[in-house]
Amino acid sequence: MAKTKTTFFCQNCGTQHAQWVGQCSTCKQWNTVVEEVLQKEEKRNWKQSSEAKKVSKPLRVNEIVLNPEERIYTNNAELDNVLGGGLVKGSVTLLGGEPGIGKSTLLLQVALTISQKVLYVSGEESQSQIKMRAERLDAENSNCLILTETNTQNIFKNIEEVQPDVLVIDSIQTLHTNTIEASPGSISQIRETSAELIKFAKETATPVLLIGHINKEGHIAGPKILEHMVDVVLQFEGDRNHTYRILRSQKNRFGSTAELGIYEMLSNGLREVSNPSEILISKKDADLSGTAIASTLEGVRPLMIEIQALVSTAVYGTPQRSTTGYNLKRLNMILAVLEKRAGFKLGAKDVFLNVTGGINVDDPAIDLAVVAAILSSNQDIAINPNVCFAAEVGLAGEIRPVSRIEQRINEAEKLGYKTIVASKYNKISSQNHKIRLVLVGKIEEAFATLFA
Ligand code: TYD
Ligand code: MG
Repeated sequence: MAKTKTTFFCQNCGTQHAQWVGQCSTCKQWNTVVEEVLQKEEKRNWKQSSEAKKVSKPLRVNEIVLNPEERIYTNNAELDNVLGGGLVKGSVTLLGGEPGIGKSTLLLQVALTISQKVLYVSGEESQSQIKMRAERLDAENSNCLILTETNTQNIFKNIEEVQPDVLVIDSIQTLHTNTIEASPGSISQIRETSAELIKFAKETATPVLLIGHINKEGHIAGPKILEHMVDVVLQFEGDRNHTYRILRSQKNRFGSTAELGIYEMLSNGLREVSNPSEILISKKDADLSGTAIASTLEGVRPLMIEIQALVSTAVYGTPQRSTTGYNLKRLNMILAVLEKRAGFKLGAKDVFLNVTGGINVDDPAIDLAVVAAILSSNQDIAINPNVCFAAEVGLAGEIRPVSRIEQRINEAEKLGYKTIVASKYNKISSQNHKIRLVLVGKIEEAFATLFA
């Protein structure tokens, strides 16, 4: 088969090179030279439909007829939610995440529970490995076909035969196309194979789910343009040592990116967690000092999380400050505020802070809970377990308002908390909350309520 003509371009300055070089001779950047296709073969893999050749005309916005996107429900409520209400026909979704996080498990589970005909193409595992996984998942779907193949031409041949309603590719980095020579996983192969799959999706209105590996910086491996080309980019994350996973959307042409899905990895697959707060708060018998509950938001979803702090006298000269799930600089700032504005001498103390459950929180509304946990540990007085917090702490020791306070209050109320401490500058419209609202303006007022 005749190969396509390719050449090498520097991604940084655009210089063309006759062969691959490590450093671009013009701009002196390293590792920026990639292979690009100059001229594609006439006959592409996915045959061009007559419709795609039509020339489009400009229309006034009010002339455009809106056809609601047709959606396919995956029967996985968390995924449907993150997608903005199911898979849109003809859409391409890219799912990225660390190795072992459960990408293959999630999509196989979806392939087995969806009511449509699915072709699950794996370039990573053998059919029997997938069979074993399917047995663990304990789901049956006679409509799910498994193919182990990495060549896109062969995949398209199978697609023509099978005519699936949904296509799953595990993973885009293992695929290769005959039209170019580069090895699977290289930038040009990823770009070509994904272009072929995107074309297939658009022309046949088949939703395609692609699994993508990530590189050590945490980005999806391959050309950045891949994320531009697809319709939806999902990230599957979570701490591998913890049992739950968060499915986040980074880009979604058909819905909000603020939605997120939570799963728990069990021995028989991923369980959808519809009330995440329950798993983020540790159950304990006695009241322990150094813990406080914050009402935070993950995306648009309210979430109650537990903050744990340990304050102890520094054993070595320089006190240690260490955090898990919280920004260390922010902790240092809070300690400085406590020292300066409230007179707590924490300068010679080790401070350790932990957001339980292993998630990373960057919502400033957990500041007050951080303060409460630190002081509770420092004074060794437990905070009433029925109290939670939702406020930001400013440099002047003021308690600042936070976004979507109503939602946070409702979540706390729903989960049975009796008191919530928030900022008095927050506009809280409805007065009929069952939960007791303690509205404070300064950090000292917050202590008065806490340790009264
Ligand atoms: P996997 O889906 O292979 O991850 P990825 O495709 O993202 O690399 O998930 C692998 C991990 O999930 C593995 O460590 C075992 C665990 N697992 C379970 O705990 N329960 C299960 O039912 C399955 C199938 C996997
Ligand atoms: Mg996998």
